[in-house]
This record gives sequence, structure tokens and C-alpha cells, in this order.
Amino acid sequence: MVSEKDFISTDFASIEKGSFQWSSPSNIALVKYWGKKENQIPANPSISFTLNNCKTITKLDFSKKETNDTFSFDLLFEGKPKEDFKPKIQKFFERIEKYCPYLKQYHFTIDTENTFPHSSGIASSASGMAALSMNIMSLEKALNPTITDDFFYQKASFLARLGSGSACRSIKGNVVVWGKHDEISTSSDLFGVEYPSQLHENFHNYQDTILLVDKGEKQVSSTVGHDLMHNHPYASTRFEQAHTNLSALKKVLENGNLDEFIKIVESEALTLHAMMMTSMPYFILMKPNTLEIINKIWKFRNQTNIPICFTLDAGANVHVLYPENVSETVLQFIQQELVGYCQNGNYICDIIGNGSQLM
Ligand code: DP6
Repeated sequence: MVSEKDFISTDFASIEKGSFQWSSPSNIALVKYWGKKENQIPANPSISFTLNNCKTITKLDFSKKETNDTFSFDLLFEGKPKEDFKPKIQKFFERIEKYCPYLKQYHFTIDTENTFPHSSGIASSASGMAALSMNIMSLEKALNPTITDDFFYQKASFLARLGSGSACRSIKGNVVVWGKHDEISTSSDLFGVEYPSQLHENFHNYQDTILLVDKGEKQVSSTVGHDLMHNHPYASTRFEQAHTNLSALKKVLENGNLDEFIKIVESEALTLHAMMMTSMPYFILMKPNTLEIINKIWKFRNQTNIPICFTLDAGANVHVLYPENVSETVLQFIQQELVGYCQNGNYICDIIGNGSQLM
């Protein structure tokens, strides 16, 4: 079994300067990660579809510096200095220094942009931390060309996890499992792994239309929300349920049963928000329009038998999931009946994708 110590690298050549650029997608969890232990270890396993269009593109320039006692970096967002992102990166570097001891030898310029609007309420931490981790691994590969591809992607996911848990699912593969699960022998709490079985053709090119219900700052960050699962009255039952739901979803991803898919995915979304509503302090991230949309989706599904469902992440936006072969009818429904509930009528059409790419 791979342990945390396997990611402590020591053998490095010397390189003066260089530059890499990676794009990393966002992902949408089907079985949710909500609750964690020390060092970003998840309280339960999760599984996600990797997205294709919602991406962060990050360029990393590095040059050797004289002293190596502190981290040194400039951070640009869409080409302009962005001071308020810096503490998060500083903390990330501190967390990963043990595994990447070469970081203090360089000055970095990190230039990052998203393909989706910054204030869309779409989590950019998953794609952002994934893209930065890919760049750091490209640097590590330049310093030590002997590392294997498997190690490269595994460690990228391991590092991304230390930046933001869900980021470890944005590295490689269209369906990714993170967190130890009995029926997925390759799974690990330390990094995400590609879903190891054959994916039923019903899920090929699966669609995710993201309805932007509320673009405002969240009142409660995910990190605070995860923390509230400590001493939560339903925590242990919830963590067990995630294991059961992942077992059930594994079968569904193999046999293509969309009715079962819908039950698991919608129940997971509502359970996530139920955990928020039953923590102390309690909070609600859904908005009235989130519920309006859910009810419309249920009505449409009952009337048409079209296998469309919703999921939510830690916010008010709704992800509408459906197979490719019904996309025309569903898009018409979305445009006619759901767009009115979106802030300024905004929504994003996405589709299941393959993970990070070197540019
Ligand atoms: C609701 O990965 O954003 O989207 O590890 O504290 O950065 P941190 O949390 P984060 O939590 C995401 C939670 C979720 C569910 C999920 O993506 O599995």
C-alpha cells in the first residue's frame, strides 16, 4: 500500500529556470466528501465526474534564487496581481514542503485564470489547486526525470488534496474515487484514483448543465462546513451511508441503470445539505430558486420519463445531469423553464471530461 512517506522526494538535479502551463477541470461529486480528519484525510470515500469546460489554466514560471529560507512567489489572476489569493498558496506551500523540498530554492510567478466567471459560485479551489499541483509535478519531473507517470499523477493528486480535498479528483480520469473503499482495491485516502471498472455507455459524454442560481460569496466556507461534522449528531451514520452509496453507485456505473443512478445522486445532494442544516451552528446554502429548480426537474421527469437529475455542491447552484441522447430535449426544457431561476439567466453547459492537460 502506498504511504505518505512514498511522496517525500529527495533526489534532484539543478535547474536554473523554466516554465510550465497546465489546465485542470472542476469536478462534480456524485457521492459527496463532507467531513475530514487531520491532514486532509476524508471521513468517507467520494466519487466524481470530471468536468470538461469549467477549467483553471495556470502558468508557473520558476527561477533559482540566492537564498532558500522562505517561499517566494508572485500571484497573478488574469494577468493582474492578486494579493488576496496569496495566503492560501502560502499555506499550501507550507503543507507540501515536506514532500517538495525544492520549493524554497525558487522564485515562482503563478499566473492563473478560469474559463468560468470568477464570481459564478463555482468552486475554483478544486481546479485551481489541481492545476498548481500539476505544474509543481512538472517541475519535480524536470528535477528528477526518472519518476514514472504513475508516480507523477499519484503525487499530483496527493499534493492537490493537501490544497483542497476535492482537488485531488481533478487530476486524471473521467470518473475518480477518493477515499478508501472496500470494493475498490486501488482506492486511497491519500489521493484520487481513476474509477477502475468499465463505465457503461449510458454515461459516455454525460452532460452537466450548471445553473448559476447565486453568484455571491458563500456565508459558510466548505472548510468550516467540514469541521462542523466533528461532533455532528448524524456523522457516523452519514459516513457509513457514503460507503453503501458508493457500493451501489459502482454497480450502476457498470450496468447503466439510470433510475438507480438518479436515486443515489439526488439523495447524496440532499443529504449533504441536510448535514449543513443539522450541524451546530446550522446553516442553509440553498436559495428559494434552488428548490424551485428541483421541483421543476422532478415534475419534468415524472411527465416525460427522461432520466434527468440534479446534484448540488456546497452552494445554491444546481448541476443538472443527463445522458447525451436526451440533451436536445433537456436543453429546451432548461431554456424554457429553468433559466428564469438563474441569476441574470446564466448557466454553463459542461460534459464529463478527462482531467488535467499540459498546454
Ligand atoms: C460539497 O474540497 O472544497 O463540494 O478540503 O476544505 O478544501 P476542502 O473542501 P472542498 O470540499 C468540497 C465539498 C463538496 C463535496 C465534494 O466535492 O465531494
